[in-house]
Amino acid sequence: MDHLLSIKRLGPDGIIRILDRAAELRGGAVPEIGRTHYISNLFFEPSTRTKTSFEVAERRLGLEVIPFEAGFSSTLKGETLYDTVRTLEAIGLDALVIRHPEDRFYKDLEGRTSVAIINAGDGSGQHPTQTLLDLFTLREEFGTLEGLKVTIAGDVSHSRVAKSGRDALKMFGADVRILCPPEWKGDFDSVGDWDEVLPDSDAVMLLRVQHERHSGEGSFSAEGYHSRYGLTVERAGRMKKDAIIMHPAPVNRGVEIADELVEHSRSRIFRQVENGVYVRMAVLETILKGRD
Ligand code: CP
Repeated sequence: MDHLLSIKRLGPDGIIRILDRAAELRGGAVPEIGRTHYISNLFFEPSTRTKTSFEVAERRLGLEVIPFEAGFSSTLKGETLYDTVRTLEAIGLDALVIRHPEDRFYKDLEGRTSVAIINAGDGSGQHPTQTLLDLFTLREEFGTLEGLKVTIAGDVSHSRVAKSGRDALKMFGADVRILCPPEWKGDFDSVGDWDEVLPDSDAVMLLRVQHERHSGEGSFSAEGYHSRYGLTVERAGRMKKDAIIMHPAPVNRGVEIADELVEHSRSRIFRQVENGVYVRMAVLETILKGRD
């Protein structure tokens, strides 16, 4: 594995290898990193979880983490992403973790740089490490990914989490159901309703409404959205025994999910965040060992 660009390219065998290694690391396995590696995190969009958990994963692996602040970089003077990456490669960086507002930002880099690229979220495209931590959390809970029924509810057309999640879950024969306003369906197959999907869903994954990616759309009512599409306390009470609540976060409490459910016994939201550190350690270790 030279890069991590999309979950489809990683494929089911690659996914399982990362999840297995993340489980070993979570269980206390000692990371296997050879020589010194230099890595930097280039975030051109806001992030709390992904950026911080990559930084923790990198430090736990003993990597040399080189600070990069997009808001103080020469990209503000018009330097392209390609020239930025080539510059950091020339300086001696081995790997770059990149979040960028453009879908498939990496298409301009492929085959043109020897630095390893890890996609930390491309526009409305993919979020492979979020999907890996979601799969890790599901497998940890249910012991398998095969045949799970997962309902993804929210702004799926703008959600890289929904798209890479769907791609991955389908590789394992999971039944992915979508619940959202019809105009936010994007290229997803069908739109269910709560009464239809709640009784047999193993997991309900809520998504934030991505207002920053909407343009020229009508007024939005948080209360109206919550009552029609949100996971309310009443709906959570109708989830089947042992079903779990997931959310990639950040959460807008009271919009896509009731405030009381964020830390409910069914919720795995903070467990997902915890698991993200081990999954990212496994990704980085796998890529960097391949460069030794
Ligand atoms: N889930 C996720 O990607 O969160 P951040 O935007 O805070 O990194």
